[in-house]
Amino acid sequence: MKILAIETSCDETAIAILECNGDEKAAQFRVLGNALLSQIEIHKGYGGVFPALAKREHAKNLVPILEAALEEAELLHEDTQAIPEETRAKIRDILAREPGLTEAFFEFTSECEPPAIDAIAVTAGPGLEPALWVGINFAKALALLWEKPLVAVNHMEGHILAALLEKGERGEEFSISNLQFPILALLISGGHTELVLMKEWLRYELIGQTRDDAVGEAFDKVARMLALPYPGGPEISKLAEESRAARVGTISEQTAGFGPGSRSEYLATRLPDLGLGARYSDLRLPRPMMHDGTCDFSFAGLKTAVLYLLKDRPGLNDEEKKQLAREFEDAVADVLWKKTAQALDETSAQTLVIGGGVSANMHIRRTFTEKILSEFPTVSFRLPATSLTTDNAIMIALAGYYRALRKEFATDIVASGNLSLAPVR
Ligand code: KG4
Ligand code: ZN
Repeated sequence: MKILAIETSCDETAIAILECNGDEKAAQFRVLGNALLSQIEIHKGYGGVFPALAKREHAKNLVPILEAALEEAELLHEDTQAIPEETRAKIRDILAREPGLTEAFFEFTSECEPPAIDAIAVTAGPGLEPALWVGINFAKALALLWEKPLVAVNHMEGHILAALLEKGERGEEFSISNLQFPILALLISGGHTELVLMKEWLRYELIGQTRDDAVGEAFDKVARMLALPYPGGPEISKLAEESRAARVGTISEQTAGFGPGSRSEYLATRLPDLGLGARYSDLRLPRPMMHDGTCDFSFAGLKTAVLYLLKDRPGLNDEEKKQLAREFEDAVADVLWKKTAQALDETSAQTLVIGGGVSANMHIRRTFTEKILSEFPTVSFRLPATSLTTDNAIMIALAGYYRALRKEFATDIVASGNLSLAPVR
């Protein structure tokens, strides 16, 4: 089955076309086309995503992105199409709220054959509603014109499936198979921080969630306080990694001359006081709700602690800024791990996955990889490929395929900014 998927929930306009085979036990995927345009540069000036601007950019970019994805998939065949006036009128109606898109839509589709795809999947939520609507209306117009079934996708399901995707043996081929249930997913993105349990395929239970800010939001806000550009996650991460590299340098100097292997011996004996919780600087931040016994999170307090720290200590130098970024990342990773470990204990999950933009974070990836090995050695751990951590349409196509397998086609799709995966336990 060939799925064309559209993602416009935030600041990425993306369309992917995947060839999908197999079933819920074992499925194989081949990426035929994948086009993505990030609006990061446009939103940088606002220090975050500006919804009206995101909507306008999606409307401007969807047709060129579609053309690029179809072309890469070798599904673009020029041919003049006579679109009946009745169909045109319906499409004009569907696209009425997306000025500029209607014209580009007709210009493009009247000159190419309906492509050989089997279904169109589109993100219905969660996300920014004005942005979601552009993608949904575009998908509806294409489905009507090309007479293809539509599938509504939950963006967070996409993030989970992207984390379960494994690289196959041959280049472009991927698979999802050999899953051990229950699967616990830690979803960390700009809008979400939640622990979700999948006891059965695509059925979710909410185990824990943030009571205030999402973790990605905290990264972005702290970055802003440090005058770093949007999106803040990668910027904070870069500074924190520089601080860690400097620390390893110091340890190396201390162990120099002790002979081969001395550094690792030194690290092994001294790590308990040099590693997590080490006082590499006097910049300390709290670990909110770390020991409250729940699987819920809170990041607003951590963000405020950074604000107060910066007020108390105006004019931090570059070195101190790196140390602060590192302490912030350490605090985030400590809390995320503690809550995840608790959820693993409570649910006896056999598989752990991390999904969402923040799962690109190297320190979080490392922390979880080490901790799983040492504390839950029988749990299988899956991380998304770094290229699939932030928003993309490949993950939407994966979710679209599984929903299409279940014949969950949509007659109408409504944008749902707060669409959730699971009822509260
Ligand atoms: O999943 P995503 O692309 O969009 C949403 O669905 O929200 O996540 C975006 C978030 C942003 O907050 C961004 O700062 C964060 O992911 N992010 C990171 C990293 N890369 C992206 N956070 C920490 N470290 C990173 N390397
Ligand atoms: Zn996302």
